[in-house]
Amino acid sequence: MSRAFRSVGAQLSLALLIVVAVALGVVYETVVPSLENRLIEARTSQLEEAGANLARRVPGTPVDEQNFVENAAASTNARVLLVSLLAAKPEPLLQVFRDSRGATLSEEIQSDPIAIRGLLRERSESGTVERGGRRYAEAAVFVPSRSAALLLTDSLQDQLSSVHQVQRRLLLAAGAALLIALLLGYGGAWLFARRIRRLERAADRIASGRFDEPVRDTGGGELRRLADAFERMRVRLAQLDDARREFVANASHELRTPLFSLGGFLELLSDEELDEPTRREFLVSMQEQVARLTKLASDLLDLTRLDAGRLTVQREPVDLAALAEELAEEFRPVAQGTEHSLQAVDSEPVFGDADELRVLQIGRILVENALLHTPPGIAVRVRASLRDGRAVLEVEDEGPGIASEQLNQLFERFYRLDGTRASGSGLGLAIARELAELMDGTIEVESRPGQTVFRLALPQEKTANPEPFSREKPISAST
Ligand SMILES: Nc1ncnc2c1ncn2[C@@H]1O[C@H](COP(=O)(O)OP(=O)(O)OP(=O)(O)O)[C@@H](O)[C@H]1O
Ligand SMILES: [Mg+2]
Repeated sequence: MSRAFRSVGAQLSLALLIVVAVALGVVYETVVPSLENRLIEARTSQLEEAGANLARRVPGTPVDEQNFVENAAASTNARVLLVSLLAAKPEPLLQVFRDSRGATLSEEIQSDPIAIRGLLRERSESGTVERGGRRYAEAAVFVPSRSAALLLTDSLQDQLSSVHQVQRRLLLAAGAALLIALLLGYGGAWLFARRIRRLERAADRIASGRFDEPVRDTGGGELRRLADAFERMRVRLAQLDDARREFVANASHELRTPLFSLGGFLELLSDEELDEPTRREFLVSMQEQVARLTKLASDLLDLTRLDAGRLTVQREPVDLAALAEELAEEFRPVAQGTEHSLQAVDSEPVFGDADELRVLQIGRILVENALLHTPPGIAVRVRASLRDGRAVLEVEDEGPGIASEQLNQLFERFYRLDGTRASGSGLGLAIARELAELMDGTIEVESRPGQTVFRLALPQEKTANPEPFSREKPISAST
């Protein structure tokens, strides 16, 4: 199939053309023959009826016969003949006694099949015959008293020409209808195809990474809905593309700072006259930068895996109370360094249905924040509890608090509060929230001057949890 023929326009026009042609064909085939038959039958039965009436009045004497047939012809509008059989064999032939047209020897009548049949069977016959290239309606009525038949014959020219006229008009109308169908089909399809081509161009534009131009369709129906779906896809892809660019820009910026600083220290270290204490001081700073780079790299890796959906979590009973103590223990040296009082609030075991390593990772992010982003001397508590049917791990500090309008943004990637004390990358809370959601959990923050609480709520492990309790007793890891 050629390319032009495969277009929607060509196919739609062809389909429309076929439908119209078939419909018209059916109309033509049913209307024309039935009209023709009806007209012929009507004339034949008219002649039959008139013949039957006339046969009863055929005069007894031959003298009046010519007048009779002429009057009969005038009243019936047909040629009227009085005929009898001249010979029956070998081929039956008619003898014409009288003819309303006066042509008693008209040869074409001599072998008229209707009259011959009527005379042979001695009864009335009717039908159509062809004579000299024309069709005639005929009725032959047997007249027993004269052993003859009265033959009424009339040309069907008028009837057939009306049928032809109807036929011509039908064909003309069919031609016009086909032309209109072709034009309408092609026009409609052209409009349709134009909308499809516009969508195709939009898809190509989006595929090539150009998200600026909205996808619009002014029509309705399925194409409009398709265009709307394209538009939603464009908006979403544009958002993702923006987020990706921002992420790459932020990540590069975060990576550049420690690398730049490391480069500076390396240059200073190459100075041979450097004394030992300064050299050691530089090395410590370099180790800090390397640690920062390592953490950043692992955070970025986690985020990339989260984005790609490649970070999987396990589901197991995790005792959050034990985990709170483990966290307090782990961060004891850091808390000592930052002069914070860190303690795990003792409780009965609280089992969540989660991935222990990932919960620990979230806990570390929260405890580290509480220690790094609050002034020295502040108390930090880690607590496990059951709350509204959820297993909850809370990290609470008595720091100056976070302004309410900034609380929501804390969980955005690379977001840091103005004047943040420690220099992080702003990724910790973003990772924590995404990890929590991966375990069907949530992470929330409540803050007022003197108290900030980060609360990780996880699905409860029902079978492992004891009855509700309310016992809080600070122990361990206070510095
Ligand atoms: N307990 C807290 N008290 C006060 N501010 C906090 C507290 N926890 C977080 N913040 C603020 O929220 C910001 C975002 O925290 P997040 O853990 O996401 O990033 P970060 O600690 O700056 O860097 P990273 O954790 O990636 O090393 C922090 O920069 C800090 O300004
Ligand atoms: Mg942090």
